[in-house]
Amino acid sequence: MFSIILGRMKNWKDQFLLDSEITFLNFGSFGACPRVVFEEYQRLQLELEREPVRFITRTGMNLLQDSRKALADYVNCDPDDVVYMTNPSYAMNTVIRSLELKSGDEILSTNLEYGAMDRTWNYYCNKAGARYVRSEITLPIADKETFLSDFWKGYTENTKVIFISHITSATGIILPVKEIVDEANKRGLLTIVDGAHVPGHLPLDLTELDADIYTGACHKWMMAPKGASFLHVKKGQQQWVDPLVISWGYESDFPSHSQFLDYHQTNGTRDFSAFLTVPKCIEFMEEHDWRKRADEQRTATVERANQFREELQFTPISPLTKEWLGQLFSIPVQPKNPLDIQQKIFSEFKIEIPLAKNEDRYFIRFSHQVFNESEDFEKLLSALKSLRDRGELRFE
Ligand SMILES: Cc1ncc(COP(=O)(O)O)c(C=O)c1O
Repeated sequence: MFSIILGRMKNWKDQFLLDSEITFLNFGSFGACPRVVFEEYQRLQLELEREPVRFITRTGMNLLQDSRKALADYVNCDPDDVVYMTNPSYAMNTVIRSLELKSGDEILSTNLEYGAMDRTWNYYCNKAGARYVRSEITLPIADKETFLSDFWKGYTENTKVIFISHITSATGIILPVKEIVDEANKRGLLTIVDGAHVPGHLPLDLTELDADIYTGACHKWMMAPKGASFLHVKKGQQQWVDPLVISWGYESDFPSHSQFLDYHQTNGTRDFSAFLTVPKCIEFMEEHDWRKRADEQRTATVERANQFREELQFTPISPLTKEWLGQLFSIPVQPKNPLDIQQKIFSEFKIEIPLAKNEDRYFIRFSHQVFNESEDFEKLLSALKSLRDRGELRFE
């Protein structure tokens, strides 16, 4: 029995290309490609180089339609409402720049958002004289009701838009976006969800969620090569979303049935092979019953979180349940020297794990992926204890 389990675990590591010298506990920053997905990526790039014009202007464009349809099927939306973009920052810049914010307008968000998104909102709000309002979420989160009440405290008659992460970055928690989107829809607000971490991590049904705008990364938990993400915009909102880069899709000589697709699929010359691997990622996930695999990792994350809390004595920032935790867990820490602790953990213990910052608090955030074994977490625990004993890290 034991050897069967070990055999299975070993098998998972063989499916990826990761450096065997490194304990990889940071799937959340950038996912790793399964071997078969990376081979597909290289096959496509080779095809591109064999006849660049044919690929970029004809065959590749057909594959792009197929890939968009496969993605739409995976996240349950109309294929005409979703376009590939390089990353969620690109997608959100596209949307926020198009918003035509007016002086006094307010965007309601939380103080748990991704730093690059905060900066994008600040930039465009500063230009327009609008306000980016970050409701302060009480930590530790007690329950959903308290969270929702904290969130809506920032609402005023000037609120026009709500913006929220589906899974937060530094704090690694799942937020109750469905409840927020439903309430915002009732109040007639534009709803924008940053789901960078969600595809391949949590089951995602964009039709059911019913947000106006949603962005997700394919190169994290869906395991695509880097530079594959998407922007979903509901019909009825697409007409005001301008392309970030104006190109041949504007005033197109060969318009398709959708201005949204024309505008956002043409950005000048680029290698879009990463987008085209998404059907292979989906195939890989289906072959391996990924919903079940991801759910197993989620259960394991909760167990590990409890183990780490007992051993290191800290106060978690949310209940340690599957309602709040997916495959990420953020341990609150106080590093003596925040600038070098991540590099120290890497060079001394050969563990890839981020030190993440949210406002003035720091977190060591681990990811739990199929190939992570008990010994990876034992190694992390022992590294954290050793740093604590040397006075380099405190747990709060
Ligand atoms: C919540 C969240 N939003 C967005 C992003 C995407 O960032 P980028 O556009 O730099 O890939 C991330 C990346 O980690 C994230 O965690």
